Amino acid sequence: MKKLVQVLIVLAILALLLPLSNQFRAAPVNSLTRAKPADPLRAKAYAILGAKCADCHTAEGALPFYAALPIVGKLIKGDIQDGLKAVNYQSTLAAAPDQPAGEVLLAKTEREITSGDMPPLPYLLLHWHARLTAAEQATLRDWIHAERAKHYATAGVAPQFQNELVQPLPAKLDLDVRKVALGNKLFHDKRLSKDNTLSCASCHDLAKGGTDQAQYSTGVGQKLGGINSPTVFNSAFQSVMFWDGRAPTLEAQADGPVNNPDEMASNWQETIPKLQQDAELTAAFNAVYPQGYSKETITEAIAMFERSLLTPARFDNYLRGQTDAITAAERRGYELFKEHGCACCHVGKALGGQSYEPLGRAANYFADRGKPTPADDGRFSVTKNEADRHKFKVPTLRNVAITFPYLHDGMTSDLAQVVKLMAKYQNGDDLAAADNTSIVAFLHTLTGTYDGKPLGK
Ligand code: HEC
Ligand code: HEC
Ligand code: HEC
Repeated sequence: MKKLVQVLIVLAILALLLPLSNQFRAAPVNSLTRAKPADPLRAKAYAILGAKCADCHTAEGALPFYAALPIVGKLIKGDIQDGLKAVNYQSTLAAAPDQPAGEVLLAKTEREITSGDMPPLPYLLLHWHARLTAAEQATLRDWIHAERAKHYATAGVAPQFQNELVQPLPAKLDLDVRKVALGNKLFHDKRLSKDNTLSCASCHDLAKGGTDQAQYSTGVGQKLGGINSPTVFNSAFQSVMFWDGRAPTLEAQADGPVNNPDEMASNWQETIPKLQQDAELTAAFNAVYPQGYSKETITEAIAMFERSLLTPARFDNYLRGQTDAITAAERRGYELFKEHGCACCHVGKALGGQSYEPLGRAANYFADRGKPTPADDGRFSVTKNEADRHKFKVPTLRNVAITFPYLHDGMTSDLAQVVKLMAKYQNGDDLAAADNTSIVAFLHTLTGTYDGKPLGK
């Protein structure tokens, strides 16, 4: 009994000493506190994040002396590892202090500030000063809102939706219409494939939401690929191309399928002479590109055409201020979409395309599905960094009702099922059936029109 009391007293003293030791720690200095952005509001936000979040969200956190203890140390290091994996303010904000912060990073940060989940409770018990004060929360929120209004709000968005995570598509992009017209022809030109059987449109059919609506695409010679074909609609708003992000631009992307043995199985040396035999196309092409056909000019024209593929939808009218453009049930679905954090990843004008995220953040999708394929590697196949395994560029949800089957593995064509899977594997939620129905109803408001005609009809 006496021994137990002694142990308890020692523990109580330790429980006070550890946080007290942190009270006397010098103010942290790290890449965030040193970055000194020119914008004063941004500078204030960096100072707060540097003081209160850097221990786990930069690789520079100073470990307290008690991190040397066996169990405690493991917990602390585990937290830092998980925190850094979830969001790294050093490689993003601190590395580019005068660049706009990414939409996903802003969305996730706002969510954590609002929920009060950050910093985590065990850390707060040991770091009494680390809780965000109300004033600091307000400053961070002001910074996030200013950043969004300045860099991500679409011109013409209703004032009350300026800070919405999802933004309407712009009415139009400033594009060279002659290049767009050439790109349109080339996108539909089967001579880009080895045996003249496939055009880009074969796997990205504009009448099928810009996809082939097949689990995997079929290339030249009936070769079956190993990954689902994403839509080309609204690809102007994707930050990188392909599920694994291996092409930085639409121009770079368009070089891929022509040379891919599983897709068009050709190359420019083979393709260009075929195009040159077409006097009409060649004359039109040379009038715009005096330098003539080349990988650079052809891929540029195709990319321009793809940038013109905008599909404004009912939901855009809503965000532009037409409040009755969507029904109350659909609006409820949108609210749930935000509440469940879907909009943190499916963010912006395309509702996606801004970040790589793990499939299976909350539960192991791949263990449950079985049969691993090379495509499951995701971003890892480009970086060879173990932390990137199973990370994928977040797909756009525009026109999602008609871009089935879903996910990189095309495992289901049932939108309600994939919404359920997302809640389970990304958030660890068991989504109520009624909420699922609402979210699906909202997703249908994203089916747009192209060239004035409704898609999917
Ligand atoms: C003791 C370490 C620790 C501190 C300090 C800390 N975090 Fe975290 N943070 C974590 C961990 C662990 C995760 C990942 C697990 C999770 O999402 O709960 C995380 C996740 C996050 C995420 C990503 C959530 C997502 O949706 O993926 C954000 C954003 C975040 N933290 C912001 C902050 C901010 C802002 C602060 C400072 C006010 C802060 N954190 C302080 C450990 C920390
Ligand atoms: C045989 C079918 C097939 C053909 C032909 C094809 N694609 Fe694709 N496309 C795919 C598949 C499958 C992917 C996804 C591959 C990946 O991510 O690894 C893809 C990805 C893309 C993407 C990336 C979209 C995103 O969100 O990341 C674009 C853009 C694209 N293709 C445009 C084109 C263009 C332009 C052509 C013609 C030059 C073309 N495709 C020809 C099947 C095809
Ligand atoms: C942590 C980021 C993240 C969150 C949160 C998230 N998603 Fe996703 N979502 C992804 C990624 C990544 C994929 C693609 C995964 C793959 O195919 O491997 C995806 C795929 C999808 C798809 C399939 C799209 C297609 O064309 O294949 C739908 C639909 C979807 N998400 C809806 C939702 C909904 C609804 C929620 C909220 C319940 C949600 N997502 C939450 C990252 C996220």
